[in-house]
Amino acid sequence: MLRSKILATGMYVPPKVVTNNDLAPMMDTSDEWIRQRTGIEQRHWVEGKVATSDLALEASLIAIKNAGIDKSQIDMIILANLSPDHEFPGTACFLQKKLGVPGIPALDVRQQCTGFIYGLSIADQYIRTGTYKTILVIGAEVHSKGLDKTPNGREISVLFGDGAGAAIITATEVKDPKKDSYLYSTHLHADGTFAEELWVPSPGFDTTGDRLTQQMMDEGLIYPKMNGKNVFVHAVKRMPEAIEEALKANELKIEDIDFFVFHQANLRIIDMVAKQFSIPEHKYFNTIQKYANTTAATIPIGIDEAVRAGKLKKGMLVASAAFGSGFTWGSAIFRF
Ligand code: ACO
Repeated sequence: MLRSKILATGMYVPPKVVTNNDLAPMMDTSDEWIRQRTGIEQRHWVEGKVATSDLALEASLIAIKNAGIDKSQIDMIILANLSPDHEFPGTACFLQKKLGVPGIPALDVRQQCTGFIYGLSIADQYIRTGTYKTILVIGAEVHSKGLDKTPNGREISVLFGDGAGAAIITATEVKDPKKDSYLYSTHLHADGTFAEELWVPSPGFDTTGDRLTQQMMDEGLIYPKMNGKNVFVHAVKRMPEAIEEALKANELKIEDIDFFVFHQANLRIIDMVAKQFSIPEHKYFNTIQKYANTTAATIPIGIDEAVRAGKLKKGMLVASAAFGSGFTWGSAIFRF
């Protein structure tokens, strides 16, 4: 049967490290508060005119190299992000220009922390139907330029970091469904009832006047706003639901999964999900300490880091789950 598989991955974070102590004088926060509540120790921030498409380019070049393919073999680009280079056109177009692959479709996915799983799912549909053979799926974010770096923004601004992760998804003919590497399934969800629980209110086109005014800037509406407690409550419910759904669809038990790649928003969320399923520590590992929440980039960064750390090996059955703004959530199961 014709299916898709992750052929190779790559990741990139900008060199500048920003520790919790670096944030303390800016935001009236402390290393102790951030570590205790989130597990985050540091994050990476871009410097100068570096945009989401630049980080995406670096991660993509590494993934292409690791896959041993030529960029001319890529049939489609799917770039998940919430921090676009510009309002329009989509950031995938800027990445396409920098990558030098004109002509192929370039699509932006705006599903925040679940963006990579949405991207993977879209790629899978195109490959299963035989439309495309090789698709570059990326998650990339430059959060640092969009955060309120004053005490007003501390509840959110300490949580995010910049980075990118990329995957080359290719068509594969599955002969042995129990042994071959392929994407078993993706399950996607959203509930826009909660769209304003984690969002950036302005600029926007749902205004009576101009989409951006001085008043919006003065009121800080250009920065992310979050009802942290409600996001937390939904995250620890929806991620397990998405995993259960995927297990059921594939007639698998939690013990059948060799490795888990969870979205990294808060170490407490991950610990609660792992505890709920009694997942032993050696079956997952966290990147939030080093990179904070890199939103759409988190899952591909997690896969890439786990491979390089020797934790995620070829042939393992992997489950991935994410939850984020929208609210959006979803899961993927694949044999690596
Ligand atoms: N430093 C110091 N104090 C702070 C900070 C900070 N950075 N931020 C908030 N505080 C203070 C608040 O002012 C408040 O003080 P008060 O009690 O005097 O009013 C107090 O700390 C709140 O503390 P807690 O109640 O312990 O906070 P909580 O346990 O809710 O943790 C957190 C906050 C970490 C944000 C948590 O709610 C969370 O992780 N939520 C989920 C975030 C998430 O999953 N996001 C989704 C993905 S992001 C995406 O999709 C783009």
